[in-house]
Amino acid sequence: MVSRLFSLTLLLLAPLCAARGDDFISDVPLGLDWVRVPAENPQTDAKLKLGRRLFFDPQLSRDRTISCASCHDPQQGWSVSTPVAKGVNGRQGERNPPSIINTGLQHLLFWDGRARTLEEQVLEPIQNRVEMDMDLGELEQRLAADASYVAQFQTAFAGPISAERIAQAIAAFERTLLAAETPYDLFRNGRATALDDQMSRGSSVFFSRANCGDCHIAKVLTDHQLHDTGIGASPQKIRTPMLRDLERTAPYMHDGSIATLKEVIDYYDRGGNRREGLDVRMRPLGLSEAEKADLLYFLEAGLRSRHYPVTAGGGDLGEETSAG
Ligand code: HEC
Ligand code: HEC
Repeated sequence: MVSRLFSLTLLLLAPLCAARGDDFISDVPLGLDWVRVPAENPQTDAKLKLGRRLFFDPQLSRDRTISCASCHDPQQGWSVSTPVAKGVNGRQGERNPPSIINTGLQHLLFWDGRARTLEEQVLEPIQNRVEMDMDLGELEQRLAADASYVAQFQTAFAGPISAERIAQAIAAFERTLLAAETPYDLFRNGRATALDDQMSRGSSVFFSRANCGDCHIAKVLTDHQLHDTGIGASPQKIRTPMLRDLERTAPYMHDGSIATLKEVIDYYDRGGNRREGLDVRMRPLGLSEAEKADLLYFLEAGLRSRHYPVTAGGGDLGEETSAG
């Protein structure tokens, strides 16, 4: 019923948005909202193919060693398994690369929410000194020297290479990186037996006992807001991340400072680091060991997507299917 009502709402809303010219990717895994596609950057096969090529191409960095995938590696949950990633010349930033799965559904991009669209976001890492350190004009020239790129831009955009089109192609590719259909999603969509007993208990710790759902709200598990949850040396507001397929994306938090999900749970259980500006929802929870174990199991198995996009060496995107 809930999902029917929701679909109805979407049906009613879609034409309103479409009136503004926006489109949607409606073929999404069960549990996700449709992904909004800006009117000025429609999804086409030629553009997606180009976007994927650019995403995996180290030529986008000054010394031709770093691609987007160096820090958003499909084999490491479209992130990296270390707290921070290395850019050109081994330079290091201070933040953990977020997984870019379902990133098309985020309203606030980057940990501090400073970008609003993927098109706007893409040009930042290319120019960032500790990431790809590339000048956009130089990048246009570099790609224009490659006849196969010139031809691909012509097919995708009916025009020449530009930084704006590089961003559009990569953004279009990113919008296709989706994963859901977890036991939790199946359950929310009417499959009563999708959660086993322990997942079910873990889910009620998450949504009731521990109030994780105050910020990680159904269904994408973020409220699209910024909060100080006490992570890092100084007070700062961070965008609530989505939580599916967490097993693939350790370590956790914007600075990668928490190594395991078990430690994440212990962190919340003790109410976070007390400090000025700490969100009022952060308070000691007093969870029992059994409750913690159930919550951990829900975070791991209950939020594990049935299909997860992976790829080998920039080739065709394959999928891994989880058991069960
Ligand atoms: C050297 C590592 C590195 C490279 C290279 C890199 N990124 Fe990132 N990416 C990061 C880090 C770190 C963040 C978080 C930065 C922040 O929040 O301030 C991030 C954030 C993002 C986000 C925001 C995700 C979210 O949930 O808010 C997207 C999308 C993204 N990168 C895509 C890309 C694309 C596309 C490229 C290639 C053009 C790229 N990145 C290159 C490290 C990298
Ligand atoms: C006050 C809002 C709020 C509440 C309540 C909350 N979270 Fe979070 N959660 C956040 C924010 C914001 C972050 C990012 C913090 C950072 O990186 O500094 C986060 C990060 C996480 C992460 C790390 C994700 C990643 O990709 O690195 C996990 C896991 C998580 N929360 C699980 C939980 C669980 C489990 C609970 C309940 C015990 C909970 N959260 C309660 C807002 C909240």
